[in-house]
Amino acid sequence: MSHGAAQPLASRLSYAQCWEDWRVLCDALEVGPGDRVLSVASAGCNSMALALRGAEVVGIDLSPPQIALCELKLAGAFLSYERFLALLGLAPGAPLEVYAELEPRLSPSSQSFWQAHPQLLVQGLLGAGRFEHYLATFTRRVLPLIHRRAAIRGLIDAKSPEDQRAWYDLHWSTWRWRGLFRVFFSRWVMARLGRSPEQFAQVQGAVADRILTRCDQVLGGQALDANPYVQWILEGAWRSIEHTHPYLTRQGHAGLAQAAERISWVQSSLEAHLPSCPPGHYTAFNLSNIGEYLPTPVWESLYAGLLEAAAPGARIATWNLFVPRACPPALADRVQRHPARSAALLAQDRVPFYGAFVLETVR
Ligand SMILES: C[S@@+](CC[C@H](N)C(=O)[O-])C[C@H]1O[C@@H](n2cnc3c(N)ncnc32)[C@H](O)[C@@H]1O
Repeated sequence: MSHGAAQPLASRLSYAQCWEDWRVLCDALEVGPGDRVLSVASAGCNSMALALRGAEVVGIDLSPPQIALCELKLAGAFLSYERFLALLGLAPGAPLEVYAELEPRLSPSSQSFWQAHPQLLVQGLLGAGRFEHYLATFTRRVLPLIHRRAAIRGLIDAKSPEDQRAWYDLHWSTWRWRGLFRVFFSRWVMARLGRSPEQFAQVQGAVADRILTRCDQVLGGQALDANPYVQWILEGAWRSIEHTHPYLTRQGHAGLAQAAERISWVQSSLEAHLPSCPPGHYTAFNLSNIGEYLPTPVWESLYAGLLEAAAPGARIATWNLFVPRACPPALADRVQRHPARSAALLAQDRVPFYGAFVLETVR
């Protein structure tokens, strides 16, 4: 195991959805046919979004349950759209029956995972990760103590940015919102219910206020009627599937069987994978926020390995939640940073969590 968080991450399904904005990723990496991307797999949504743009994608994750989820979602490319939605718990149907049809397409280890965890399919796959359970507790138990449904609708359905900001300031950002938010998204509660203590090993200081600041920017300042991330958190569901992840839309699903030929899922840590890559192979990287869990020297050596595996001009996308991670100073002359573009991308980021988004280009 490569780092302390690897053990809990490898032992469970942590994420049933990717909680990094796919639009930011696609805008940052600008991939298309001819690109070769190394992409942290997580729940597969963002790796599939990149492949739907024509890139070849290696979706990598150290966690066997995450890879089992990615394999299953991608196998859903070979279903009718209606059965695909039923598999994911987004339409009526019998997910276990649909699963049985797809099982032969999965690797033996993914088959074993789903055979041991049928309840994840029955309960609704896209809510099945530990992190989605945590968010569901917020949506169902905590948020009703703060706001009525009318207040939630008032925020999401605001007619103009000015109306929304006024609604946020006047009706939303109350002492009760800030107080209960700070408790529920505290390091202590998040480590025990949503993530794991090991995922905070590199984090300095309290965390809730950092997320609250970002929530203030997104909930008060961005259009929410097409924001799937905020809708899921506040309403527990999406308003329209067409405004969610590319692989979930009717058009995206229609392209998924072809995209599947361009995706391979690899169960490994990035640290272990990079030394085996041909030099100069990848033209883009989606690092999610994996640097968050790595001690600085491990991050530095991972980054050095990444630069060996990168083609000149390769683009690197990294999110920072609580821990600042970007090209290490010792390697700074080998990459170009794009602070203004990175800040602009963060401002568009529809997930109300992250402290920074970092876009870098290999020289
Ligand atoms: C980095 S986590 C972050 C998810 C979300 N942004 C958050 O902060 O809670 C996303 C995925 O990365 C995987 N992961 C973490 N460290 C990794 C590493 N060093 N190599 C490969 N995958 C890793 C985890 O198993 C997980 O599925």
